[in-house]
Amino acid sequence: MSILVTGGAGYIGSHMVLALLEKRFEVVVLDNLSNGSAVSLERVAELTGRDATFIEGDIRDRELLDALFQRHAISDVLHFAGLKAVGESVEQPLRYFDNNVGGAVTLCQAMQSAGVRRLVFSSSATVYGEAEVVPYHEGLPLGVPTNPYGRSKLMVEEMLRDLGRADCRWSIALLRYFNPAGAHPSGRIGEDPQGIPNNLVPFITQVAVGRREALSVFGNDYPTPDGTGVRDYIHVMDLVEGHLAAMQAIAERPGISVWNLGTGRGYSVLDMVHAFEKAAGCTIPCHVGPRRSGDLAQYWADATKAERELGWRARRGLEAMMADAWRWQVSNPAGYAS
Ligand code: NAD
Ligand code: WQD
Repeated sequence: MSILVTGGAGYIGSHMVLALLEKRFEVVVLDNLSNGSAVSLERVAELTGRDATFIEGDIRDRELLDALFQRHAISDVLHFAGLKAVGESVEQPLRYFDNNVGGAVTLCQAMQSAGVRRLVFSSSATVYGEAEVVPYHEGLPLGVPTNPYGRSKLMVEEMLRDLGRADCRWSIALLRYFNPAGAHPSGRIGEDPQGIPNNLVPFITQVAVGRREALSVFGNDYPTPDGTGVRDYIHVMDLVEGHLAAMQAIAERPGISVWNLGTGRGYSVLDMVHAFEKAAGCTIPCHVGPRRSGDLAQYWADATKAERELGWRARRGLEAMMADAWRWQVSNPAGYAS
């Protein structure tokens, strides 16, 4: 049996493929390369000494999916494929709903007709909306995400919950990621955003290699210890290990399961800058700019449910996250195009 990883040529997906191959799973990757790179999979093969089967194609292509499920005996689907740029989703909502919601519908239809009913979905802490209590725990009511990207994640969660209610043969994990960061410690695979990075850590690493002049800190007047936004940054290798644990758990757990994947600790923007400067031995030029619209002051995960039910918790700290992010960026200053 094989594991299907949609979006497996992307940032988190490529680290997932590596972890699966290391655990001796057979892996099939489906990715349309809209934001991923086939080079990431070549590097994964070089690191693991094993190959995933790569299919370049789209999760919205029903014929392709039917053929894939016919050709490969798939036991589980890890569904990472999706568009994720918040600002872009505000400008192009239809593209986001088509890709993220339409894509998930087509994928589930193809799974259903192939009789594959184990699915791990990449959700996001964005589904908590603007919840005022921190830390966020899985029992909180779903919120109102502030942008179409977030709403696409919420809609897919709702659809999957309905699917689980309608047919108890499905086993579905909704994994709500907090802020993934870092890279594989080899420095061979990592995050390679196209254009100006939206996220904090790739922006910092690109300043450090001279691709950007300075970091703009989006507001320093939040009600947080140093006035800058606080988030729960989780090492990408911890995150993928959480998926392995969830995938194993839902094999014996029909229905819908929801787990936060975070560390349970928040760090401010300035904490992140200082941790990076320490890891990389350089100074990051920063200036304080206005708040970014839609940003919340602070949130982090209550990560105890995953620990209790999956026996998983994030093990890597900020130091490893920053050292690994830096190793990836400095050895690949232009990402996979280096
Ligand atoms: P990414 O953009 O690096 O990876 C997504 C991959 O999916 C890319 O390789 C892209 O080419 C592929 N893809 C997109 N649409 C596709 C389609 N229609 N058919 C086939 N392939 C398609 O993003 P990532 O950071 O690795 O995120 C993976 C998943 O995790 C996404 O669903 C994202 O929304 C979710 N997530 C990410 C974060 C984060 O901060 N990185 C946080 C929470 C949730
Ligand atoms: C982190 C902190 C910024 C960039 C986003 C999505 C969320 C999820 C993860 C997918 C904030 C500050 C950032 C910069 C800054 N993605 N910042 N200068 O906003 O917590 O979450 O990615 O599901 O849905 O919204 O992450 O990395 O953009 O920002 O000061 O150039 O860094 O204000 O406090 P965010 P981020």
